Amino acid sequence: MIIFAENLKEEKSMLSVSNLSVQFGKRILFDEVSTQFVQGNCYGIIGANGAGKSTLLKIISGKQDPTSGHVHLEHGKRMSVLEQEHNASDDFLVLETVMRGNKELFSIKTQIDKLYEDYTDSNAEKIGELQIIFEEMNGWNAESDAASMLSNLGIDESHHHTLMADLDGKLKVRVLLAQALFGSPDVLIMDEPTNDLDYETISWLENFLANYDKCVIVVSHDRHFLDSVCTHISDIDFGKINHYSGNYTFWYESSQLAARQRAQQNKKSEEKKKELEEFIRRFSANVAKSKQATSRKKMIEKLNVSDIKPSSRRYPAIIFEREREAGDQILNVENLSASVDGEILFKNVNVNLAKGDKVVIYSKDSRAATAFYEILNNNQKADSGKFEWGVTTNQSYLPLDNQSFFEQDINLVDWLRQYTKTEEEREEVHIRGFLGKMIFSGEEALKKCTVLSGGEKVRCMLSRMMMMRANVLMLDEPTNHLDLESITAFNNSLTNFKGTVLLTTHDHEFAQTVGNRVIELTPNGAIDRYMTFDEFMSDKSLKEQRDKMYQVTA
Ligand SMILES: Nc1ncnc2c1ncn2[C@@H]1O[C@H](COP(=O)(O)OP(=O)(O)OP(=O)(O)O)[C@@H](O)[C@H]1O
Ligand SMILES: [Mg+2]
Repeated sequence: MIIFAENLKEEKSMLSVSNLSVQFGKRILFDEVSTQFVQGNCYGIIGANGAGKSTLLKIISGKQDPTSGHVHLEHGKRMSVLEQEHNASDDFLVLETVMRGNKELFSIKTQIDKLYEDYTDSNAEKIGELQIIFEEMNGWNAESDAASMLSNLGIDESHHHTLMADLDGKLKVRVLLAQALFGSPDVLIMDEPTNDLDYETISWLENFLANYDKCVIVVSHDRHFLDSVCTHISDIDFGKINHYSGNYTFWYESSQLAARQRAQQNKKSEEKKKELEEFIRRFSANVAKSKQATSRKKMIEKLNVSDIKPSSRRYPAIIFEREREAGDQILNVENLSASVDGEILFKNVNVNLAKGDKVVIYSKDSRAATAFYEILNNNQKADSGKFEWGVTTNQSYLPLDNQSFFEQDINLVDWLRQYTKTEEEREEVHIRGFLGKMIFSGEEALKKCTVLSGGEKVRCMLSRMMMMRANVLMLDEPTNHLDLESITAFNNSLTNFKGTVLLTTHDHEFAQTVGNRVIELTPNGAIDRYMTFDEFMSDKSLKEQRDKMYQVTA
């Protein structure tokens, strides 16, 4: 099989990886990988859930040791990371979170503060020494630098002293990005930055990265995002990493073309060559016309023809069955209201669900939808109002944050067994059936749930949901962390599901193809329409009404 791979040897590398191998038990994630990342390029790392993307980033940033091999960052260059886990800084204040981005400086500041706490003569000397270093690092300006960086990224001053835990997910990501940028990195590493973001903030990030001329290495499952920011696609498969010039669409289409050509045994090689040339010509023309991020770097450089193996990606089998069909009464919500710290998320919401409704729950403030689900699942109390589930309904819920489900040190079979109801269900074969559908088979089903990748955790949660056989599904950002194969399978299964669905997603395609009703939660009640998500968003008169309903009057 042939595809266009790039010859990187002539360029100056910022970061290089040599003979990297990583292995867990029998499972080989990386096998003697050597590769380079070059200044000015933006690499989109793609690969199936569990392929090793986050592991690679952790090794590059020194948080994890490889089984063997080395990572080399050019002397004097700095690197910073935006983590996949967006809630890790929840206990810190916003401004402090940003300052933690410059680790050396922050550690000196902490030491000084501590020494001041029990001040003695001998401490005084030590404090003096530390303060000199602090000053050399321009430490006195750190706080105001952090504040102006936050303001540049659209975080209002009123939020600078808020606890991270109380921040809306999309603002949180901006703060974490400010943290990553705070040390002026030469290499910026990001793991799934678009999770937790809304359309507007994703476009904002796309624009930001388009004008950012440092080396960027970003893991993402979001095609649109990859297309707008990447100069290169780095595919992790078969324990290797291959870089390809161009964005995601170019990678995808060229590998599809290569696969087609491989199947056409009878076609003459000149014909194939001509077809390839024509493909590149068309693609280059499109690129030249579009005003993509990649203008900062010539997208298609030296193209080489090299071998590639067919992808080993597998589609999981997501099938939601119902234990029984629900009656006519599904859910009745009356005058429901919720707030955080006195800020109204939604107020006086009335909803009556009918059988088979597939509702996109939407709000400009992503915390509103999450609070709505948490209340319906009795994890949180409403400020006022009530709700009632129909007696024939049973619900299963995919929460936005699944961390609390994976804290016990048990294997996947025992993990899923916790959610069984009958003796028969407790049998290992039964449990393995559901794990197998989500591609955990053989020894994989016996790994500890604490080591799972982001997408693997979601896949476990989906095994659990399938096993529960509920007739009402609640899904808060279901596509977060999932690879494209899983998203496709998930999307199809929801379209075919005969029960009721409540769904919140930033994935436009998902919302559009699954939903037949949209409910928007606002501080002045709900807007409720039987229409597709696109119709809802593009309706002019609705838009006026929607904007008005977010204006909070004192
Ligand atoms: N200590 C460990 N023992 C066994 N397996 C492990 C360990 N740590 C990680 N793994 C496995 O290594 C694989 C790679 O994990 P990683 O988090 O790098 O995946 P990923 O490509 O980032 O996936 P995702 O797209 O879901 O985020 C996963 O299958 C994970 O379960
Ligand atoms: Mg990951």
